[in-house]
Amino acid sequence: MDAAVALVFSLCCLLLLSLWRQSSERAKLPPGPTPLPVFGNFFQIDVKNVSQCLTNFSKVYGPVFTLYLGMKPTVVLHGYEAVKEALIDHGEEFAGRGRTPMIERLSKGRGIISSNGERWKETRRFSLMTLRNLGMGKRSIEDRVQEEAQCLVEELRKTNGSPCDPTFILSCAPCNVICSTVFQDRFDYKDQDFLTLMRKLNENARILSSPWMQICNNFPLLIDYCPGSHRTLSKNVDYIRSYLLEKIKEHQESLNVANPRDFIDYYLIKLKQTNPNQQSEFTLENFVMTVFDLFAAGTETTSTTLRYALLLLLKHPDVTAKVQEEIHRVVGRNRSSCMQDRSHMPYTDAVIHEVQRFINLVPNSLPHAVTCDTKFRNYFIPKGTMVTVSLSSVLNDSKEFPNPEIFDPGHFLDKNGNFKKSDYFVPFSTGKRSCAGEGLARMELFLFLTTILQNFKLKSLVSAKDIDTTPVVNGFASLPPRYQLCFVPI
Ligand code: HEM
Ligand SMILES: *[C@@H]1O[C@H](CO)[C@@H](O)[C@H](O)[C@H]1NC(C)=O
Ligand SMILES: *[C@@H]1O[C@H](CO)[C@@H](O)[C@H](O)[C@H]1NC(C)=O
Ligand SMILES: *[C@@H]1O[C@H](CO)[C@@H](O)[C@H](O)[C@H]1NC(C)=O
Ligand SMILES: *[C@@H]1O[C@H](CO)[C@@H](O)[C@H](O)[C@H]1NC(C)=O
Repeated sequence: MDAAVALVFSLCCLLLLSLWRQSSERAKLPPGPTPLPVFGNFFQIDVKNVSQCLTNFSKVYGPVFTLYLGMKPTVVLHGYEAVKEALIDHGEEFAGRGRTPMIERLSKGRGIISSNGERWKETRRFSLMTLRNLGMGKRSIEDRVQEEAQCLVEELRKTNGSPCDPTFILSCAPCNVICSTVFQDRFDYKDQDFLTLMRKLNENARILSSPWMQICNNFPLLIDYCPGSHRTLSKNVDYIRSYLLEKIKEHQESLNVANPRDFIDYYLIKLKQTNPNQQSEFTLENFVMTVFDLFAAGTETTSTTLRYALLLLLKHPDVTAKVQEEIHRVVGRNRSSCMQDRSHMPYTDAVIHEVQRFINLVPNSLPHAVTCDTKFRNYFIPKGTMVTVSLSSVLNDSKEFPNPEIFDPGHFLDKNGNFKKSDYFVPFSTGKRSCAGEGLARMELFLFLTTILQNFKLKSLVSAKDIDTTPVVNGFASLPPRYQLCFVPI
């Protein structure tokens, strides 16, 4: 009996304590709906339609507001002005990465996506510079993507124009581009190492974006009860680690400092240059996680965008016809498309931009955090507070893009049919944390899509008006519904 009383008493104390902590913290943070103890605003958020929910809250609380996901507050930035003011004008303060317990366990703060501070700066600088150097090398990244585009077309030819679900093939190509950037060579699509790598990456993506994982992240006490999934995650990272180690050994033997071939070579050169007695961020463990991050960030994103693009092209045959007309006029049949063609293909460029705007792939970006105590629009945001950046509120702005819920390449064209740039085009986010692979991703989207459309007519199994393009929301990403199509050789 006494024990029960004591238990109830201490629970009450905990509850009061958390209420008190919440209310003193809330006084200075931006306004927001009143949170429940422990659960916060969890029950007020429709997990099926988070973006719409945030839009609804912003109508009540303004463009900068606070939500509690579980016990932790997150400051939401909604709309172009707030996002730009935070990520550009206060770039340094808002460049932190929000820590989610699951990712923390997986990456241990290493790599580029989930690191912070000096390690993040060094790793990001190294990665961007290496991608840039490889872009200019003897065998440039453009060559690699063009090669992959041809292999992709060959693989699609094997379907013989019969109905297929393009998911698998479309995820091989972007994964292989990262492979050829990191390991020098692409793989055959049937290579066992390649298939295993893809399987491990897919499994991690699936686990990390499951609804259960979102719940674990908000209520970290549950993590140890999540049946083994974080162990599976780490096992998959370990697999990639040992594969990478093998490759690094091979590279060490054939390294020519004057002629680096890939990401691994640049890492080995960097290692040679750093003083072994000095503390450095260029450790093997950090490199392993960085490579893992390139795969994690660069495969699913690009392949989902490609898959969604094809669905939208099936839904809008008039748009597809205009793109194909432009391809045949500018590129013709006898050669592969290259990046130089893009400036002569405003319509195609506009279509790809509109695909990215419309599908809103990562509606709330990845979680940010403030790197120090920050004063923002008269609010006080303590160091380490999570920040949610609503990219969808910018991409869906109805002043910049009239009728934003409609797919219309005209959103990126002027009256004369020239390509029209927009500051509101933020599918890669913006500021110091923005996507490190934007250049590569845009190259892949352009070269893969133009090469596919140069070689195939897309045929839908149902009539265009019956095609559903509503996204299936899944963790951080908006995915297209499953569909099939035929690639009919031209
Ligand atoms: C269509 C394809 C892609 C989209 C829509 C996309 C979008 C994004 C977004 C929204 C972020 C979060 C930015 C932020 O925190 O504010 C991000 C981060 C990142 N992306 Fe991409 N991405 C794509 C492709 C790629 C590719 C191909 C690579 C590979 C090189 C890549 C590498 C990264 C990395 C390394 C980060 C973390 C940057 C950091 O934390 O400093 N992404 N991406
Ligand atoms: C979210 O809600 C809006 C309006 O309430 C609706 O138009 C939209 O289709 C919904 N999105 C999803 C993914 O259900
Ligand atoms: C997108 O914009 C439309 C039109 O202004 C609006 O009705 C809709 O709620 C917005 N969607 C989201 C997710 O904010
Ligand atoms: C947003 O508000 C509209 C209108 O008040 C409501 O119909 C809709 O269900 C709300 N959507 C979400 C996801 O909360
Ligand atoms: C394209 O190649 C074919 C055969 O190789 C050739 O007959 C044709 O003249 C070429 N067309 C152009 C426009 O170069």
